[in-house]
Amino acid sequence: MKLAFEVNGERRTVETSPWKRLLDVLREDLRLTGTKEGCGEGECGACTVELDGEVVNSCLVAAGQCDGRRIVTVEGLARGGVLHAVQRQLVACGGAQCGICTPGIAVCAAHVVDRGLIAGCDDATARAKIRDLLAGNICRCTGYQLIVDAVIAAAREVAPGTEGAR
Ligand code: FES
Ligand code: FES
Repeated sequence: MKLAFEVNGERRTVETSPWKRLLDVLREDLRLTGTKEGCGEGECGACTVELDGEVVNSCLVAAGQCDGRRIVTVEGLARGGVLHAVQRQLVACGGAQCGICTPGIAVCAAHVVDRGLIAGCDDATARAKIRDLLAGNICRCTGYQLIVDAVIAAAREVAPGTEGAR
């Protein structure tokens, strides 16, 4: 079956089974290997992408559900060769170690920052909300504190409530 999507701002078509997982279409058909597989069953968030502006686990989405829709992967976060604020801050704050969770965390954190989901919160509230909003993204290396620090730093960098660095 021929399917067409907008991926990271570009129209892409693939000839594939509508039952193939979006995760596999991205990695195998489109060679966008930034999106990782951890659990393969919706528990870890390593495969997180945006689908029509919502964060989803691409291991749980069938390709056929994505026809005509807009997808953003970790490869789509940078603009004009400049990393998104969350990517830069994950590096600067030490919020990435082995890196398996990092693409999913970056996509989810960029969603949080760009949509101003912690805008106007005091520090404690913002930190609690970030932990809640990233609860579906499991990291086994960092202990989360440095990831939360990175999201706070990125949110300070990107104007709250705007599309910011995207
Ligand atoms: S690989 Fe999709 S949630 Fe873990
Ligand atoms: S950096 Fe290793 S799992 Fe998060």
